[in-house]
Amino acid sequence: MEPLIRVRDLCKVYNPGENEVRALDHVDLSIDKGELVGIIGHSGSGKSTLMNMLGCLDVPTSGNYYLNGKDVSNMTDDELSDVRNVEIGFIFQGFNLIPNLTAKENVELPLIYRGVSKKEREDLAVESLKAVGLEHRMDHKPSEMSGGQQQRVAIARAIAARPPVILADEPTGNLDSRSTQEIMEVLKELHRSGRTVILITHDDEIAAQVNRVIRIKDGKVEADFMNKQTGEKYNA
Ligand SMILES: Nc1ncnc2c1ncn2[C@@H]1O[C@H](COP(=O)(O)OP(=O)(O)O)[C@@H](O)[C@H]1O
Ligand SMILES: [Mg+2]
Repeated sequence: MEPLIRVRDLCKVYNPGENEVRALDHVDLSIDKGELVGIIGHSGSGKSTLMNMLGCLDVPTSGNYYLNGKDVSNMTDDELSDVRNVEIGFIFQGFNLIPNLTAKENVELPLIYRGVSKKEREDLAVESLKAVGLEHRMDHKPSEMSGGQQQRVAIARAIAARPPVILADEPTGNLDSRSTQEIMEVLKELHRSGRTVILITHDDEIAAQVNRVIRIKDGKVEADFMNKQTGEKYNA
C-alpha cells in the first residue's frame, strides 16, 4: 500500500551560491497512515525546514514528495494551498490564537475561510474542543486560559476540518513540564483515535513517548527506529 507520506531524495538549499545552506540533504522517508512519529534533532538540524516541506508550506530544491499518492513537489503556490487545506492540520510552538476571539471562535475561524456553513462550523468546533477536553472553556478567551489550555485550543483548531495529517512543530516548546505532558496526552489520544501525528521536537523526553523516532542531523536522516517495542530499524 502507498504510504501516506513518501519523501524521496529531498533537498532544500537556502541561498544557493556562496552562502548556501543545505538545510535538507537527500532525505528519504515514508510515514504510514495512523503513525505517531517524532522528528527529533538539535536546533538548526533542519526540522522546521522538513516540516515546511511535509506541510506543503514550501517546495524542495530537488527530490520528490508524495502526499496521499500525489506528487506535491512541483506544485504552484495555489495548488499547495489547496492540498494544505484538505490534508494537514498545523500546530505551532506559539499557539497563534486570536486574542479577542473565544476558544470556539478561534476553532471556527479557518472553517469560515473554507466556506463551511455556520451550523456545521459550530458542530465541528464543539466536537474538536470536546476531543481536547475543553468543552467547559469554549467561551473563554486565550488570556483567560493557561498555556496548556491555549495549545489545546490550537490543537482543536488543527483537527476541526478532519485533516488526515497533524503536523506539530515544537508544540510544547513554550510550556512547563505539566502542560507539556497534558499536550502529549492529547496528541497520543488523537493518534489512538486513528489520526496520523507528526511531532517535531528537540526534547528527548518527548521523543521517548512516540512510537517511532526519525532523528535528523545536518539535514540528513541519522536514525529511524521504532521506540521501545522492538528497537528494530525502520526501513523507509
Ligand atoms: N529561510 C532561510 N534562509 C536561510 N537559511 C535558513 C532559512 N531557514 C532555515 N535556514 C537554515 O537552515 C538550517 C536548518 O534550519 P531549521 O530547519 O530552522 O532547523 P531547526 O528547525 O531544526 O532548528 C539552519 O542552518 C538554518 O540557519
Ligand atoms: Mg525549528
